[in-house]
Amino acid sequence: MANMKNADKYKRGYYMPPEECLDWAKKEYIDHAPSWCSVDLRDGNQALIIPMSLDEKLEFYKKLLEIGFKEIEIGFPAASETEYEFCRTLIENNMIPKDVRIQVLTQSREHIIKKTFEAIKGCDNAIVHLYNSTSVAQREQVFRKSKEEIIEIAVSGAKLCKKYRDEMGMNNVIFEYSPESFTGTEPEFALEICNAVIDVWQPTPEQPVIMNLPVTVEMSLPHVYAQQIEYMCKHLNCRENVIVSLHPHNDRGCGVADSELGLLAGADRIEGTCFGNGERTGNVDIVTLALNMFTHGVDPKLDFSDMPSLVEVYERVTRMNVNMRSPYAGELVFAAFSGSHQDAIAKGMKWREEKNLHQWTVPYLPIDPHDVGREYDGDVIRINSQSGKGGIGFLLQKQYGYTLPKKMAEDFGYAVKSVSDHKHAELQPAEIYDIFKARYLNKTAPCEVTQAHYVQNEDGTITAKITAVNKADNTRTSCEANGNGRLNGVANALKAMLKIDFTLETYEEHALERHSNSEAVSYISVVMNGKTYWGAGRHSDIIVSGVRALVSAINNALS
Ligand code: KIV
Ligand code: ZN
Repeated sequence: MANMKNADKYKRGYYMPPEECLDWAKKEYIDHAPSWCSVDLRDGNQALIIPMSLDEKLEFYKKLLEIGFKEIEIGFPAASETEYEFCRTLIENNMIPKDVRIQVLTQSREHIIKKTFEAIKGCDNAIVHLYNSTSVAQREQVFRKSKEEIIEIAVSGAKLCKKYRDEMGMNNVIFEYSPESFTGTEPEFALEICNAVIDVWQPTPEQPVIMNLPVTVEMSLPHVYAQQIEYMCKHLNCRENVIVSLHPHNDRGCGVADSELGLLAGADRIEGTCFGNGERTGNVDIVTLALNMFTHGVDPKLDFSDMPSLVEVYERVTRMNVNMRSPYAGELVFAAFSGSHQDAIAKGMKWREEKNLHQWTVPYLPIDPHDVGREYDGDVIRINSQSGKGGIGFLLQKQYGYTLPKKMAEDFGYAVKSVSDHKHAELQPAEIYDIFKARYLNKTAPCEVTQAHYVQNEDGTITAKITAVNKADNTRTSCEANGNGRLNGVANALKAMLKIDFTLETYEEHALERHSNSEAVSYISVVMNGKTYWGAGRHSDIIVSGVRALVSAINNALS
């Protein structure tokens, strides 16, 4: 039996709270948007192969403002010249709207805190974010310090932040503290250190503090994190003036679940990045989180209605790719290739249109692609050899206005699938239309009817006189025949002229809905020697379009 050696190496590295904290589990959904803080320009940027340049950071910053972020961590200004310069550029060029706060990260060391305050000089709407690591592993292995010594680092940093804020009279600046590596920390100790910092900062309603409880490394199932958060929310000092913030990373692929359950557990704020860029497997993807809320009928208070433009800017400035399957944003996330999915979507869309529905209920599409700036045409129904007649017909109808008879759609579906199968490739709408034209539309070989005249007889029948060219030898022949209508007359004339026999089985027509100045399209099937052949005709005159459809079907039978 196959097995993975070494599983026993990975002992449980997380800590349950000392009491049951399961109130969150009774809640059904997140009923309001949290405060959002983008850390794209700090945590995201520090994880890039090539960090963003000043101009790239500026462009991304503007995009974040456009989306509606009110808190943006812009860097660690004391750690690098570029970050310092970026911070100064925003401040000196008045690029921070009044209702937005920039956030700057600092370690708990005096010269770093001092430099951080220098970096934000002149900017009152800022958050100074202090952190130190608190986990058992970091305490023992990295810092080799006792719990008391780790608390002292946090408390002394908190005092210095207060000192510099007071000295510089930056009374609007608010503070954030992160017990970094929270998920590897005993909850009782995390609580103790957070409360020690809160006691120094003495938050008020006007000047609250942010306690950020990061999933620096994801170590447990999301419901364990939710219990840790509920425990903190229940026991933090001065909770009413404390904004509890989450900062999940995604090591186990559960960053979104951590955030969602953490919000249910009482958190007020989320730090994350667009598309989950960040250290290792990344930070929590705010796009997914926000749109998950949206699809539960809750306004996330972030605007992702132009997703393609966000993807474009993000990919360009970070040199990362948005995965094709990335929720709500990936190229393929609305795409249906399989026949049964396409059929259900096409029917769902029709139902929606007919019933004039506001509520979104289309099968297989958890969100209306239009709500994130995506198109139905091209984004949803995509055609390859897995596709079915429903989807192919839907595409031809939506993009080119042709509504094929049911049986013809089947015939066309097989033809398209077979081309895709042989090419081993997806087919674009234009290629599908080309197949339609080549296979059915206005076919003039081997036979083209160049003229048709009709005489109405006294007994109500029609005499059709047609002239046709045989493309094999370019001979021109005329012939006339009676029929109970014009099309029937032409059919009889063609039978006589070409010495063939067939039955006209299907005739349908409609006005072309798109790309035409009121042209008509007709579809005809004839049965010859027990086999069905389809043709389509298009013309501004409905009679001509019918004759063209008939000739196309006969040409298909003859070739
Ligand atoms: O992941 C983390 O813990 C951090 C802290 C600095 C908040 O990025
Ligand atoms: Zn982080």
